[in-house]
Amino acid sequence: MIKLALTKGRIEQKALQLLEKCGYDISPVREKGRKLVFHCGNLQIVLAKAADVITYVEHGTCDAGIVGRDTIMEQGGNFYELLDLGFGKCSFALAGLAGEEFYSGYGHKTVATKYPNVAKRFLQSKGIDCEIVKIEGSVELAPILGLADAIIDIVETGDTLRENGLSVIETVADISARLIVNTAAMKLKNQEIEQLLNQLANEVVKNAQTI
Ligand code: PRP
Repeated sequence: MIKLALTKGRIEQKALQLLEKCGYDISPVREKGRKLVFHCGNLQIVLAKAADVITYVEHGTCDAGIVGRDTIMEQGGNFYELLDLGFGKCSFALAGLAGEEFYSGYGHKTVATKYPNVAKRFLQSKGIDCEIVKIEGSVELAPILGLADAIIDIVETGDTLRENGLSVIETVADISARLIVNTAAMKLKNQEIEQLLNQLANEVVKNAQTI
């Protein structure tokens, strides 16, 4: 039995589709209501918020997890990142009000983000000394309201940026859903983990070929 933590929300449906293609009967999750734990053959699926998926996997409460690279980059932690699952594709981008220069000038800069660790690393790598303001959601508001010169946020379709008069200055990192595994489970449940990994990897390859 593998206990798999799955990120609720945006990547949930794609993750379930992938597990279904691997042969798992995920119908209990489809009929979920407000339940959070499901028995799907030899998989126990736990639905959790992205950051908590990492916490449960890191602590070994769950053997494995499916979570976006955005949360992995922000939160870090001690676990194995085994597979790029090929869905949930988007990117971290530095964005600002269209037509405004971010890199020019010597004035004090402020960047708003939900991902302060990602922002700090990126801006340090660029040698830019600037203030980072943590925002909880709708980060696009920060430059519009004059709180920040730019944002570092997730861009998927680009619609939110466009509709709010913002544009990408630079891509920070590519993001997609990943399979992560607890380090002890990798040893103790090696056969089961390897089996899940192979099943998922085969489907990922098939999906990539049909695109
Ligand atoms: C994310 C992100 C952007 C938007 C990007 O927000 O923070 O706002 O999606 O998607 P797009 O490029 O397809 O428009 P989310 O929907 O998670 O909401 P939040 O900002 O309230 O956290």
